[in-house]
Amino acid sequence: NAGSLWGGRFDGGPADALAALSKSTHFDWRLAVYDIEGSRAHARVLHRAGLLNEGELSGMLKALDALDADVRSGAYTPADSDEDVHGSLERGLIERAGAELGGRLRAGRSRNDQVATLGRMYLRDHARVIAGGVLAVIDALVGQARTHPEAPMPGRTHLQHAQPVLLSHHLLAHAWALLRDVQRLQDWDRRAGVSPYGSGALAGSSLGLDPEAVAADLGFDSATHNSIDGTASRDVYAEFAWVAAMIGVDLSRISEEIILWATKEFSFVTLHDSFSTGSSIMPQKKNPDVAELARGKAGRLIGDLTGLLATLKGLPLAYNRDLQEDKEPVFDAVDTLELLLPAVSGMIATLTFSTERMAALAPQGFALATDVAEWLVRQGVPFREAHELSGAAVRLAEGRGVDLDGLTDEEYAGISAHLTPGVREVLSVEGSLGSRDAQGGTAPAAVARQLEALKRELRAA
Ligand code: ARG
Repeated sequence: NAGSLWGGRFDGGPADALAALSKSTHFDWRLAVYDIEGSRAHARVLHRAGLLNEGELSGMLKALDALDADVRSGAYTPADSDEDVHGSLERGLIERAGAELGGRLRAGRSRNDQVATLGRMYLRDHARVIAGGVLAVIDALVGQARTHPEAPMPGRTHLQHAQPVLLSHHLLAHAWALLRDVQRLQDWDRRAGVSPYGSGALAGSSLGLDPEAVAADLGFDSATHNSIDGTASRDVYAEFAWVAAMIGVDLSRISEEIILWATKEFSFVTLHDSFSTGSSIMPQKKNPDVAELARGKAGRLIGDLTGLLATLKGLPLAYNRDLQEDKEPVFDAVDTLELLLPAVSGMIATLTFSTERMAALAPQGFALATDVAEWLVRQGVPFREAHELSGAAVRLAEGRGVDLDGLTDEEYAGISAHLTPGVREVLSVEGSLGSRDAQGGTAPAAVARQLEALKRELRAA
């Protein structure tokens, strides 16, 4: 069996059913170029340890370069008989370097430390792509916030009208959450930047190879301090899957709002034609499919995380074949986000907001009642009493079918002598917004300051 990595102690090859079950080339092939990079670094430490002479090293590197080119061009692909990417590439190496030289590379390494290292290399590269995609969504949110710096909207809690806020304030709330996701990916990279190469099957190598040299060669910051940990742990994958799921959840929450805002009842936004879909039967339809797919894919990303955690939870140390199941969830998370993020940023960048309608709805639902209570506090009334008086004004207004600014001066005075006509200064959306000018608040000046703070953090990210 040409592609097989073992055989010495076996009578025959694996049963077809086992070979079919074992096979992973259909999903681990995306690690092929990383595998070859790892092989180059490994060849160099074998050389430094005196296990490959000068000529053997250059022959090996030449064969690896040729294999790399053939993998990238698609000229070399896994054969039916190949179990995984590592075995297949050893076959390809031997085809190019001969059995004598090609057969030397496997010394001192195992697929166990290889695969643990290659997965980290792959995920680190894609974490950067994903961070770029999240930053593009943040840019789209910031762009909309800057287009509408002072447009009011109804701020909600429990989905009920709560207090007026600025649309820019609301959009930036999503941007801050996504910025933390970018920072999480960067922080995760410190833990992912540790190379398990050199851990061997589990116990390390007896051949005098230097794991730190391989780590540096492959762009890692350091090598693992424990070879059992190096081959058995997958918390770095799980943490990646968690951040991916969190990004999915954050995109899903934005998307849910866009779906609501695009309804006839809300009519807060219009989706650009290029980011909406029609119906095969209802000619009038314009559907927010991007947002719905984002919401749906959040479930898928959560599934990737929980599936991986379930795979890990019962595993004794060190490597177990169950760990072959670690790759598809994180690969799926990568593919999902790399597909989703550009669509979401495009959807957000091209939204049109109906700012007049949002402004008209901002004060409704007695959204200024808190402002009345806080105005009373500024007049020296204890908040407990102020809350009661403002509540009485709401009750009176509701009974009369008017909003808070529809009550007369006499009606206010009838509730309490504290409620002088001066209260009218907060009975406007502008007054309400402008008064919340502390850090984090919704006043135009405060939102302008948070935008500057966000931009500072984005520059540092
Ligand atoms: N293909 C395996 C994986 O993805 C690596 C091979 C390790 N196999 C073994 N029998 N030790 O985890």
